[in-house]
Amino acid sequence: VSAKVTFAGHDSVVDCGHRETLLRAGLRAGLQLPYECASGGCGSCRAQIVNGEVETLWEDAVGLTERDRRRGNRLLMCQSMPTGDCVIKAPSTSIPEGVEEPAPERFAAHLAGRELLTSDTALFTLELDASLRFLPGQFMLFESDSGIRRAYSMAHPLGKGSAVEFVIRAKPDGAASKWLFEELTDGDALTIEGPYGRAYARPNTTRPVLCVAGGTGLAPILAITEHLLSAGGQPSLHLYVGARADGDLVLLERLLQLRDSGALVSLSAEQLSGAVGDHPLAPVRNGLVIEHVANDWPQLAKHDIYLAGPAGMVDAALRAFVRGGDAKADRVFFDRFIA
Ligand SMILES: Cc1cc2nc3c(=O)[nH]c(=O)nc-3n(C[C@H](O)[C@H](O)[C@H](O)COP(=O)(O)OP(=O)(O)OC[C@H]3O[C@@H](n4cnc5c(N)ncnc54)[C@H](O)[C@@H]3O)c2cc1C
Ligand code: FES
Repeated sequence: VSAKVTFAGHDSVVDCGHRETLLRAGLRAGLQLPYECASGGCGSCRAQIVNGEVETLWEDAVGLTERDRRRGNRLLMCQSMPTGDCVIKAPSTSIPEGVEEPAPERFAAHLAGRELLTSDTALFTLELDASLRFLPGQFMLFESDSGIRRAYSMAHPLGKGSAVEFVIRAKPDGAASKWLFEELTDGDALTIEGPYGRAYARPNTTRPVLCVAGGTGLAPILAITEHLLSAGGQPSLHLYVGARADGDLVLLERLLQLRDSGALVSLSAEQLSGAVGDHPLAPVRNGLVIEHVANDWPQLAKHDIYLAGPAGMVDAALRAFVRGGDAKADRVFFDRFIA
C-alpha cells in the first residue's frame, strides 16, 4: 500500500497501491465513481483534492478545462496517482441494478497475433497470464514500458480462455499506433489494465435494439451484438456498421454470422469502390451511418441504442437521436473513442 485515500462523500477510506490511479483504487473498492474513457479525454472523472498531493500521468489532459486548472484543486481521477495519504471529494454515479462491474486489475500479457485486416487496421490477439472477466462492450488500457496508456475495446463477448482480441486502427504519427504496429512483435510483453467502461450490453431487454459502429467502434459493438443475440429477449436487433470507405469494412464473416444468428445487418461507407463485391452483406449504402439510422428510424423512443466509434461520430449521433429526436437518453449507451 502506498497511500490511504479518503473519498469524502463516499464515507470510504481506500488503500491505493503503488502507482495506482485514484479511479482504479476507488473502483476496486466498489465505489460508484463516475467515469467514461479512463484516458484523460472526457472529464467525467473530475474530482476535487481537499488534502494531500498526487502525481499526474498526463499533465495536459484535455479532460480538465482551463477553468479547472485555474482553480488549482481539480484533478482527473483516471490520471492521478497519490504520492501520500490524501482526501478527495468525488461525485458518485449509480450502477444499473443487478449489474456487477468487474473490478479493474492489471495483467501481464504478450502479443500472440497481429493480423492485418486492411493497410491500417489489425486484429490483435493478446495472451494473458490469468483469465479476464469483463462485460461485453468494455475496454482495457494497454501500457507500454515507456508509459504510453491507451484504451482498446474487446472484440468478443466473453473470455476465450486466456486469449483476448482487439481491433485497432493505426493513427498516422500516433504514439500507441507506432508502438503497437511497428515496435511490438509476436511474443513481446505488455501490461494491460481493466476492464473499464460503462457502455456494456444490457441484456434481458424487451425493447428493440440498435447497435451502431463507426470505424473500429466495431470492436465493442461486435461483443455487445453477439452477447445480446445469445441472451435473446429483444424483439429485434439491427446492426449498423459504418466506415470511411467500403474497403475499410472488416470482419465481414463475423458480421455474416451475426446476421445468421438473427441480426439485421446494414453496411455504410462514405466512399464506394466496390471492395465488398458480391458478398452476401452487399450492397453497401453510400453515406454516413448516422444519417442512415436516422432515415430508417424517425422514432427511437422505444429503442435501446448502443453507439461506438470516433468521438465526432458518437456526438453527432447523440445530437441527432437524443437532442434532435426522441431517443431516451438513459437508453443510449455510448463509447467515444477520444483519439
Ligand atoms: C474508451 C475508448 C476505447 C477505444 N477503443 C479503441 C479500439 O477498440 N480500437 C481503436 O483502434 N482505438 C480505440 N480507441 C482509441 C485509442 O485509445 C487511441 O486513441 C488511438 O489508438 C490513437 O492513439 P495513438 O497513441 O496512436 O495516437 P496519439 O495521437 O499519440 O494519442 C491519441 C490521443 O491520446 C491522448 N493523449 C496524448 N498524450 C497522452 C498522454 N500522455 N497520456 C494519455 N493520453 C494522451 C490525446 O487525446 C491524443 O489525441 C479507444 C479510445 C477510447 C477512449
Ligand atoms: S477523463 Fe477520466 S474518465 Fe475520461
